[in-house]
Amino acid sequence: MSDPLVGQLRKLILARTGLRTREHDDASLRRLLQDRARQQSVRDLASYTCLLEADLPESKAEWQELVVLLTTGESFFFRDGGQMYILRTHLLPELIGRRRKTQVLRLWSAGCSTGEEPYSLAILLRELLPAYKQWGLTILGTDLNERALAQARQAQYREWSLRKAPPSLRERYFTQQNGAWVLQDEIRSMVSFRPANLLDDSRAGVFGLANMDLIVCRNVFIYFSREVISKVLRRLEAALTDDGYLVVGHGELLGQDLGRFEPRAFANSVVYQRARRPGARLLLGAANEAGGSASVPTSQPPSTPPRSRPASDAPGAPTGDPPQADRAEALTELRALLAAGDSRAAAAAAERLLEQGGEDSQVLCLAAEAYGNMAQRDQAEAHCRRAVTAAPLAARPHYLLAQLAQERGDADAAKALLKTVLYLEAKHLPAYLELGDLHAREGNEGRARSMWAAALDLLRNLPADAEPEGCRGSTAAELAAYASSRLSTPSPGNQG
Ligand SMILES: C[S@@+](CC[C@H](N)C(=O)[O-])C[C@H]1O[C@@H](n2cnc3c(N)ncnc32)[C@H](O)[C@@H]1O
Repeated sequence: MSDPLVGQLRKLILARTGLRTREHDDASLRRLLQDRARQQSVRDLASYTCLLEADLPESKAEWQELVVLLTTGESFFFRDGGQMYILRTHLLPELIGRRRKTQVLRLWSAGCSTGEEPYSLAILLRELLPAYKQWGLTILGTDLNERALAQARQAQYREWSLRKAPPSLRERYFTQQNGAWVLQDEIRSMVSFRPANLLDDSRAGVFGLANMDLIVCRNVFIYFSREVISKVLRRLEAALTDDGYLVVGHGELLGQDLGRFEPRAFANSVVYQRARRPGARLLLGAANEAGGSASVPTSQPPSTPPRSRPASDAPGAPTGDPPQADRAEALTELRALLAAGDSRAAAAAAERLLEQGGEDSQVLCLAAEAYGNMAQRDQAEAHCRRAVTAAPLAARPHYLLAQLAQERGDADAAKALLKTVLYLEAKHLPAYLELGDLHAREGNEGRARSMWAAALDLLRNLPADAEPEGCRGSTAAELAAYASSRLSTPSPGNQG
């Protein structure tokens, strides 16, 4: 049953902070808010709502507490090696080259939490720009959470925050004091911090920020509804210079109207560049600003996936199929999230795409993989079945269903599904290998051998060092050696 008071508070939180909480999490939200009310010696939730709505200093302080409780400030130095590589080898050198004459460069870490991100940018710049003192550098870190900013200004970190920092940089820019890693003053003084709510479009808020060459806003959009992301994106766009770059977390802009942002794909990530002239870009599927639901979460996958409606139903949506290049980019981003092991973000991004772009079998399969990785097998299975409906002749959903069947120990179902896979895709190597193993486990040596022999035939046509699709981490040579060894083991019937 819905809880009207908590529902009202959910909407208030969304309006004030952009943070969305899900309706089916109302019970835990109520507990959290009741705890806060108790700690503030407020009688009940209704009075607590009044406190939040009031324009009092204690209301402002209470919002600060709530934001801390509703978000995670998790951050660490050199987070996402792939993006750091792009910053170090492409974006920062390009921006430095562009600004050689004026020697003015402006970088902004939006949603910087405890400062690891802007300080990582400062270290990169310090490394790339020996004469940095002669430049007019701005490296700004902003966040809603003022307590996190106070920690950022202190610039003292635990080992855990430096787990991804290259040892040479750790040695060069930190000293150890009383068990903490203390950032050198030289780097510390390159960065300034100020509180800013990304939803605040007043002059004092993000509206006052302009002429940025680079904005890094990672792992912040995950908390926002589609509408809020859209608003914030327009503000970040306005704060950038022409040709300036925006770096966000993987998949965070999938399905968003990119406005003036042009995606630039690198091997490890897509970054966004503000075009000189406006021109709308959209990643996979029609944006449905009017129809987007504020309560569909991105921070946690929903337990019942929202059924998508066809893109053409969306009010104001462009007609026709999404451009192929955009779809390919979206799929690349999703795969990158899965490869990076971020299944939660992959599942959330896939749900957003499904919500906007309709039943896409490949997106459904990637969502199923993400849920499978998180051991949410029912979700994984439901998505596979939707993928089968969307593309009945695609082998992949049946193959994923076979894996799920194996995980729950249903060998008969797994075999039947793998046979369907081979019926749909006669050269599906993993299906042969897995059927071989399943038959062997049941003592059906003859069938097992014919599967391994077929796998070996396929493997002979591949370069030895190729990594066949679906056989993550194994080369063709290693798999061939495995299949040969199984074939050369005497079958029980041939022994003695
Ligand atoms: C997970 S941290 C990300 C830190 C850093 N960007 C990184 O990727 O390592 C997310 C941060 O976003 C901040 N945040 C959430 N909503 C915000 C808003 N409306 N305005 C500004 N910051 C916000 C939170 O306070 C939190 O510190």
